[in-house]
Amino acid sequence: MTRAEIDKNDCLVIYEDQFSNYHLHPLWLRERVTDPEFLDSNNYQRLYEPSLITQNITIKNFSIEKEILKIKFSDGVEGSFLLNVLINELKQKDIIPDKKPWKNEFENLPIYDFKSLNEAKVFLDLLSDFQELGFVIVKNTSAEEGTVVKFAEMFGPVRTTNFGKHFDVVSKPQANDLAYTSLGIKAHTDNPYRKPMPGIQILHCISNEAKGGDSSLVDGYAVAEYLKINEPEMFEILTTTDVLFKFVDKDIILENYGKLIELDHNGKYLQSRFSGRLDYVPYLEPSQLEKFYSARKKLFHLYESEEFELNFRLDSGMLMMFDNIRVLHGRTEYDVNTGFRHLQGCYIDHDSTEGKLRRLKSNL
Ligand SMILES: [Fe+2]
Repeated sequence: MTRAEIDKNDCLVIYEDQFSNYHLHPLWLRERVTDPEFLDSNNYQRLYEPSLITQNITIKNFSIEKEILKIKFSDGVEGSFLLNVLINELKQKDIIPDKKPWKNEFENLPIYDFKSLNEAKVFLDLLSDFQELGFVIVKNTSAEEGTVVKFAEMFGPVRTTNFGKHFDVVSKPQANDLAYTSLGIKAHTDNPYRKPMPGIQILHCISNEAKGGDSSLVDGYAVAEYLKINEPEMFEILTTTDVLFKFVDKDIILENYGKLIELDHNGKYLQSRFSGRLDYVPYLEPSQLEKFYSARKKLFHLYESEEFELNFRLDSGMLMMFDNIRVLHGRTEYDVNTGFRHLQGCYIDHDSTEGKLRRLKSNL
């Protein structure tokens, strides 16, 4: 059972168990009061400016009953708080699942039948798998052009870029990107030169009759975790060196800098960037540069290794949706003389999948 007391600084100390306690400032609690007078019950937004609450507010009294905390503040306001909600916020615990790193050892791939996605439970499972693994495959969609955008809009708005609302991955002359040739393309993240990078990519197969043209996915998170443990020096240089990524065509020049593996301020994995066709390594002292090149080479070989790279084939009517800042994708070369290959792709933001998953989980 949770217990609490007021400390010498007039903060409420909540003891979750013998190891965890939190010293909560009265103002921090006061601005979380959820009564309808203070919070709009439709949109959960505050109806007042919290910066204007008196800063020397204190707790006059409190009680805990059935895991509900009741507080009377010195400005006369009374509030009730669900302790589990409060503690989840203190722990920054998200309702949606954490990422699960994966290698090329799936017993069952996360393949969903498009015809079942109108069942709420199946849609929720797809979003949960996507959150954990960073990708899902969907079969039995239509083979019609434009399917990719319709599918994307089940989650949220499509991000239009200079390639348009969607792009056609088909071999064409004088292509402004190697994706639009029949060449094999090793595992990469799309568009690391954009600010911000496209969050999620969906690639829908209209036709894949050519010899070759198989797809691959690699979990950048799993590879980053592997390097962190097995090659700490390489991990260090890859997570601290800013690389320039650049796209050039006759209309536009796009540039952005970023690390090949980026961590957050707590040292936790945030994202991957990798595109050997587009990267410009910065000026570094030669000895540092040698270290960086060794680390990049190692990273490249891990991405193409049997241990990490998942290979499969997208047939007509199938699509894959993957987290473009985590899961790298690639394809094998194909022979345009053996059949037609046409994929359509588009981008959406993480807001769409994460936001929908949080909503659905909160409804449970
Ligand atoms: Fe790509």
